[in-house]
Amino acid sequence: MKQLPVIFKCSHHRNGNSDHAAALFLQGIRAAGGAAEIINLGDMDFEHCIGCLKCRTAADNRCIFAEKDGAQELYDKIISAPFTFFASPIYFYHLPSRLKTFIDRGQWAFEAATGNSAVMDGLCARPAYACLFAGRPKGEKLFEGAELSLKFFLRFFKAELKPSMVFRGIDEPQDLKNDQKKCAQVIEYGLNAWQKLEDNG
Ligand SMILES: Cc1cc2nc3c(=O)[nH]c(=O)nc-3n(C[C@H](O)[C@H](O)[C@H](O)COP(=O)(O)O)c2cc1C
Repeated sequence: MKQLPVIFKCSHHRNGNSDHAAALFLQGIRAAGGAAEIINLGDMDFEHCIGCLKCRTAADNRCIFAEKDGAQELYDKIISAPFTFFASPIYFYHLPSRLKTFIDRGQWAFEAATGNSAVMDGLCARPAYACLFAGRPKGEKLFEGAELSLKFFLRFFKAELKPSMVFRGIDEPQDLKNDQKKCAQVIEYGLNAWQKLEDNG
């Protein structure tokens, strides 16, 4: 079976805004006739990158921790997914630490993409989407760090981060659920993602 799109829930607690956004995005995909796999990345602990740079010269740029946790399996999913979606809160102007640790561990992909990797060279461009939540109602730069990190991390997997949906002033776990207009926007975001996939064959 072909790999499904992957939805990453990146908050460190369940049933809040990011989880709800993931459910709505999936609802949109399903409304367009599609399906997706959901990963609770926010529940997963990863070994952190220690900057040893062994991945620069290792076979297949494999990380020394590749067998020690579930990170590599998730990178493989990103590689084979037709698109990915990240639903995440902002923590201190950035992404939550588990997602950031996952991103740092993606250094092997940077080495592969900038070296001679048949896997990375053979990939075609695929879109990536994100929905980001911040409790503060204002702040021009609230999402800047998070978007930059996600964008450049994904780029090494040939996934292109499309304009993300960002929501300010969403703080309590039920805030998104209580705003039907915003919910409808996320559903449409998912629906469009699947339709674009169909349109591109
Ligand atoms: C550790 C931590 C750090 C946070 N840092 C910020 C921040 O820098 N700016 C902001 O606007 N909100 C911040 N928030 C608020 C969350 O972004 C907000 O509550 C979000 O809606 C939580 O999403 P969730 O329900 O998916 O976990 C922070 C929350 C936590 C727990």
